[in-house]
Amino acid sequence: MLEDAQLAPSNCNTQPWQMHIVSGAKRDELSQAILADDDAGHNTPDFSFALSDFHGPYSERARSQGAAYYEAIGVRREAIEDRRTAARLNLSFFGAPHVALLFMPSFGDNVRVAGDIGMYGQTFLLSLTAHGLGGIPQTMLGFYADTIRKVLGVDPSLKMLFGVSFGYPDEAHAANAYRICKAPIEESLTFHQ
Ligand SMILES: Cc1cc2nc3c(=O)[nH]c(=O)nc-3n(C[C@H](O)[C@H](O)[C@H](O)COP(=O)(O)O)c2cc1C
Repeated sequence: MLEDAQLAPSNCNTQPWQMHIVSGAKRDELSQAILADDDAGHNTPDFSFALSDFHGPYSERARSQGAAYYEAIGVRREAIEDRRTAARLNLSFFGAPHVALLFMPSFGDNVRVAGDIGMYGQTFLLSLTAHGLGGIPQTMLGFYADTIRKVLGVDPSLKMLFGVSFGYPDEAHAANAYRICKAPIEESLTFHQ
């Protein structure tokens, strides 16, 4: 799976990915550290993220995804504390035994390098699935970039884009029992002749 990911294409073959895989006692230590950050309201993202930045159909898709997910796991919209507890599952890696953190060097406005990290991450995710495992990409882990770098001894020049919690999926879990709504192909594609 790591060999598959390593074959991902990148701008000018720069291969800008640096992935740290964390398991065992270090995984638990990392989870405790970012849960403590969350308790303290201490966020240190390298890149901005706000649901309010989405607009039009993108905002609508994000909203309906959230609603479908919380309904599937039995959390009501108005149950603020339950929603927080559910969101915090991100920080214990949804119970997965391993988490991969994806870091990148900074080049220019970082858009191209972030695209390359996406290529690498998706190749890794597809290979996990092909081998009977599963992974969850998580931007939310990047909200604790400074703490993660500190716990893992990662150089501050490397920016964290997202993480991937992975292991063998719990197919019976409610979160895996609903199929997310995808837009029809026509909404994303235009043919020209
Ligand atoms: C880069 C990236 C970051 C994501 N971050 C999170 C996250 O922080 N927490 C989470 O629960 N899901 C996260 N997701 C999962 C998306 O919510 C999910 O991919 C989307 O709703 C579509 O569902 P599907 O992957 O089942 O098709 C992320 C996905 C991507 C590609």
